[in-house]
Amino acid sequence: MGLPLDAFLGSPIILIAYHNPILMKKTIVLSLAAVFAAAISPISSAQDAGKVDFEKQVLPVLKETCFKCHEKEHEENGKVKKPKGGLRLDGAAVIMKGGKEYPNENVVAGKPDASWLVKTMTLPESDDLAMPPEGKGDRVSAANIELIKKWISEGANFGAWKGVE
Ligand code: HEC
Repeated sequence: MGLPLDAFLGSPIILIAYHNPILMKKTIVLSLAAVFAAAISPISSAQDAGKVDFEKQVLPVLKETCFKCHEKEHEENGKVKKPKGGLRLDGAAVIMKGGKEYPNENVVAGKPDASWLVKTMTLPESDDLAMPPEGKGDRVSAANIELIKKWISEGANFGAWKGVE
């Protein structure tokens, strides 16, 4: 490991532990735990590498292009604003719940082509269900649609993000 054994054995903690059997045991357990943790961490980060991170990569796209019509009911300039189509995109649970027409089919984990979140983005602009509706904002770029599809294919994992309840 490149770490001189002398330096390790010479460290004050080891020296104290050496003369106390209980501490020695603890030190060995702790050392083993550290070695084990170091051994498994590269594996778990390798598994996550390359996967789409919802909060970092997908959420900003939804915020920019969809939130103004698909947020929790709130007041704006003294007017009550309800989520359009009954669909909210500002929380993990409500994204999975979906809207009035396609409940439970907004995001179908593993199936981007069955997920209305993506379908509405890819419909021709003239289609009534194209999102955002014609003239109501820029369409989602092809690259971002691919990213969202990849996220759904990978299981539609939100990580630690819960958003608005
Ligand atoms: C300017 C307002 C507006 C924006 C922006 C907008 N939508 Fe919509 N959305 C609507 C309206 C209105 C409906 C209801 C459509 C209908 O019933 O014909 C709707 C309905 C939907 C539905 C169907 C929900 C259901 O189950 O009934 C989906 C899915 C959807 N939008 C996704 C999106 C996505 C994804 C974005 C961002 C790319 C987006 N919308 C941006 C206004 C908007």
